[in-house]
Amino acid sequence: MSDSTGVLRAALVGCGGMGKGLAQRLESLSEFELVAGCDVADVAVQDFTKMFPKTSGYVDYARMLAEAKPDVVVIATNNTSHASLTIQAAEAGVHGVYCEKPMTTCMADGQAMVDACRKHGTALVVNHQRRLLPVFVTLRKLIDSGAIGKIELIRAGCAGDILSDGTHLVDTVRHLAGDAKWVFGQIYRQRPNPGEPHSQGYPVSGGWRYGHPVEDGAMAIIEFENGMRAELFTGRMQAKGRRYQDYEIFGTEGRIYRAGDAADPPLMMQTAQNPNWHPSPIESGDEDAIATSMRQFARMIWHGEDHPLSGDSALKDLEICMAIYESARLREKIELPLNQPRFPLEMLIEQGEM
Ligand SMILES: NC(=O)c1ccc[n+]([C@@H]2O[C@H](COP(=O)([O-])OP(=O)(O)OC[C@H]3O[C@@H](n4cnc5c(N)ncnc54)[C@H](O)[C@@H]3O)[C@@H](O)[C@H]2O)c1
Repeated sequence: MSDSTGVLRAALVGCGGMGKGLAQRLESLSEFELVAGCDVADVAVQDFTKMFPKTSGYVDYARMLAEAKPDVVVIATNNTSHASLTIQAAEAGVHGVYCEKPMTTCMADGQAMVDACRKHGTALVVNHQRRLLPVFVTLRKLIDSGAIGKIELIRAGCAGDILSDGTHLVDTVRHLAGDAKWVFGQIYRQRPNPGEPHSQGYPVSGGWRYGHPVEDGAMAIIEFENGMRAELFTGRMQAKGRRYQDYEIFGTEGRIYRAGDAADPPLMMQTAQNPNWHPSPIESGDEDAIATSMRQFARMIWHGEDHPLSGDSALKDLEICMAIYESARLREKIELPLNQPRFPLEMLIEQGEM
């Protein structure tokens, strides 16, 4: 598609809460034409075609690929199906896959997604949109400019489990700190009630979410190639009173604090020159980071432009997430690259340890 800039026919799979949000973006962006929606649940398809009357609805994904002939597929299903749906789309010859985070639930599947997309010339993006928010663009510039000296530590936290919300935290920390060298982590999971159905939505219920097991709390230390460290606290390991996606950045000459993003707080800074905490301006920009990312996705397909949320980048996020679980499983510091193709939390459960 590199010689064309035609409007991209888009099909969505997974017509739940996030899927509808993504479909609204696709409808509003001139780069795309939303043509179809697919879900295993009939009622979700009916809802979707009512909400987006110009689309055709499907319960059979292969049929949607064959009949609707989309240029791009947008995936917003349970995390356990991201890999197979991506690979099927690449094999069907679509030009691009825009997949929800987390990429998938184990390294073998993540690598298979990247390999299939590379083999078939399919652009792959994973929706870790948060690093494109103006606040994270500003943070990166402040760090690069040396505004608080050399960065020694990023301490960050969020609600939820590692794969649902922690993956955003890992991606934004990687955006600020670069590639990771080693990971040390610990998790705990309350014994699920055997009578409780495996939860696929919020809140975390019975230790399951989005089709796979999740933990209740996790903490991790990550060291990066540049010597920077990160300390992450997720779910019930986040201190009381802390907000969703909360960041403290410690430099040799100052500190930056972002108190989560729920109430859109200011970016607070303290420097050697100005030791009192004071607000630092946030660059203006599009607050709809998903729309920003989707526009870049279209340019990736049309012109081969790099995308900051590429499949390769998502694989690095997944590797850190999996290394946290693997560190908890082995009770060891994990040097990257991670040599564990499976989902270590599943292995802990199989071993009767969690
Ligand atoms: N980027 C973000 O900020 C963000 C925010 C929320 C959710 N998400 C991600 O979006 C995805 C969907 O989350 P949600 O909250 O909308 O979940 P949801 O449960 O509301 O919707 C998922 C839908 O997918 C359907 N589905 C499941 N497996 C399928 C399959 N194999 N084929 C077709 N349809 C299938 C389900 O029937 C359901 O309708 C998850 O991967 C989640 O992690 C991302």
